[in-house]
Amino acid sequence: MTKLFSPISFKGMTLKNRVVMSPMCMYSSINKDGSLTSFHYTHYISRAVGQVGLIMVEATAVEPTGRITEQDLGIWNDDHLNGFKGLIEQIHSYGTKVGVQLAHAGRKAQDEPVIVSPSPIPFDDKSKVPSELDKVGIESIITKFKEAASRANLAGFDMIEIHAAHGYLINQFLSPLTNHRTDEFGGTRENRFRFLQEIIKQSKQVFSGPIFVRISTDEYQDNGNTMEDFLYYANKLKELGVDLIDCSSGGVVPVRIQAYPGYQIKRCEQIKQEIGIPTGAVGLITTGIQAEEILQNDRADLIFIGRSLLKNPYWVKQAADELAHSLEAPKQYERGWK
Ligand SMILES: Cc1cc2nc3c(=O)[nH]c(=O)nc-3n(C[C@H](O)[C@H](O)[C@H](O)COP(=O)(O)O)c2cc1C
Repeated sequence: MTKLFSPISFKGMTLKNRVVMSPMCMYSSINKDGSLTSFHYTHYISRAVGQVGLIMVEATAVEPTGRITEQDLGIWNDDHLNGFKGLIEQIHSYGTKVGVQLAHAGRKAQDEPVIVSPSPIPFDDKSKVPSELDKVGIESIITKFKEAASRANLAGFDMIEIHAAHGYLINQFLSPLTNHRTDEFGGTRENRFRFLQEIIKQSKQVFSGPIFVRISTDEYQDNGNTMEDFLYYANKLKELGVDLIDCSSGGVVPVRIQAYPGYQIKRCEQIKQEIGIPTGAVGLITTGIQAEEILQNDRADLIFIGRSLLKNPYWVKQAADELAHSLEAPKQYERGWK
């Protein structure tokens, strides 16, 4: 039995295999109201037909001003619920679980006239200067995350992922490069972690299923968070009862990443081994053999696949063939997948 095709459970959610469709913004909410379109249905359901274990719906904004672009998905309004309910029902009908990544872009919101961040530091010299969030503003966004988690629960999502990576708002609080505050939300790493901590605590009150957190485990810049800081955050996330850390990197400041196959796995493995919390590996994992190596060597518990699933919605079948695993086909495809 391969590990890639063995089931795994998180707080009552059992995945049939270890393949996760990594969250990927499609910028296709064409009515600019955060709602799903027929494209999203085709896009996500075809990966469920393709036997992905868990689909993570792309970064979905907790408030309109937290969108990267006007065409991002949103979950700030009860009107969004019906679209998600229909999508979830279809994905479930193929035996796939589904979660949603809850996000706020902060200073990386591109289409907003007024953007916010822990400190008034623009992303680059072409970006707007964000307004520094005051306490009321911080509390309000924490509440928006809680309300979004509550809606995710009502819609029937199996799990949620908090997007604390890639230089978006939560990451802006975590990083000393973007957080120059002197109050209880800045300064020490304990203080920089407070915003994420409150979001998790509040979300747990309204969402009882598994909660994953995506973090950037490398900022590729001097004076940013160090590996010691990431291990500290990982330990805090474990104490808070977070079910898995999805280990990505970058996006905090505009630096080019020299990516190579499995470039983010070293830190993912270190977090898993030193802190003893399940992790998700992501980043240029393109073959079943590579995925199996990561799992067998206990470097991660789940394998997040991004671009390879955009190239091939049946990537799971391709990986199964490589590993000589006889993958159960959706019944309509049985004659083709033998
Ligand atoms: C089109 C596209 C959109 C993305 N949008 C998101 C997103 O919404 N949230 C997120 O955390 N990462 C996002 N990412 C990053 C992916 O989830 C993934 O971490 C990255 O592409 C590396 O994995 P890969 O080499 O398998 O593609 C996006 C990547 C792509 C290619």
